[in-house]
Amino acid sequence: MTTLMTEKTLQEEVRGLAAARDAVILAHNYQVPEVQDVADYVGDSLGLSREAAATDAEAIVFCGVHFMAETAKILSPEKTVLIPDLDAGCSLAASITADQLRDWKAKHPGALVVSYVNTTAEVKAESDYCCTSGNAQAVIEAIPEEREILFLPDMFLGMWLERVTGRKLTIWLGECHVHAGIRPADIERWQAEAPDAELLVHPECGCASQCMAFANGRTHIISPGKMVDFARRSTKERFLVATETGIIHRLKKEAPGKRFEAVSERAICRYMKMITLEKLRDSLREWKYEVTVEPEIAERARGAIDRMIALG
Ligand code: 13P
Ligand code: SF4
Repeated sequence: MTTLMTEKTLQEEVRGLAAARDAVILAHNYQVPEVQDVADYVGDSLGLSREAAATDAEAIVFCGVHFMAETAKILSPEKTVLIPDLDAGCSLAASITADQLRDWKAKHPGALVVSYVNTTAEVKAESDYCCTSGNAQAVIEAIPEEREILFLPDMFLGMWLERVTGRKLTIWLGECHVHAGIRPADIERWQAEAPDAELLVHPECGCASQCMAFANGRTHIISPGKMVDFARRSTKERFLVATETGIIHRLKKEAPGKRFEAVSERAICRYMKMITLEKLRDSLREWKYEVTVEPEIAERARGAIDRMIALG
């Protein structure tokens, strides 16, 4: 009871501060439920980028990880962008630096670089296109067949893209520890144990491209944004979800009355969970922590991000 009261009071405080300071609160699908519930908009990277580009608010408080807040800053350079905890990083984004990318490009002259949005602004500045799980296939298909493509940093997303597009990609061997941990055996077990359920699988998962090998009509490899649309429209009642478990809260709200379960209860991103309601309140109250991107880097990264939004 007391905890619920505290949560409600904090949420009211957050809403009051956001209104007073003309700030919009954007929250990623993997945020804790109480942060999702207080946000103006909850979504995946692509949806949040679109909101960041379109908002009229003076400031954006980004409840997600650092590269997402950087992307918001690049898209809205005149606005103040805050993140409630500067340590909210991403192990996938950390798997390649701009220097490593420059070396890789030097070994593949003439290749185009497609970077997943989970990268630093410096890496985006070295890229031709950015993509998210929601539009990666469309981005690859928009590139002429004869061009070599360097795809980074997620190898599982890259392998899945090779399968769905039929293109050969040169893939950086990075991975997200959360999604890489969801293995083909987890899916096989659920397929046997829950024959009535639809399986919704994020393409970053360690099982994604293998899932295609034993795919059936009820296994769907789709982005979190598409999972929400799918669950809303489906006539089915039960869904097993292979991605970070935060999405379950969003799915339950968007498709009430249906049953959602995590394929792996271990799929928890500790970086996403660093943002709490208290830290969000402090961020608005003390106007911290401001996210900045060097203008020269931002300008070069912007081209790749704009191409991603255009192909959404
Ligand atoms: P989305 O692009 O699906 O929002 O994913 C970002 C992310 O961090 C995946 O783990
Ligand atoms: Fe990065 Fe993985 Fe966390 Fe997403 S779930 S923010 S890719 S570490």
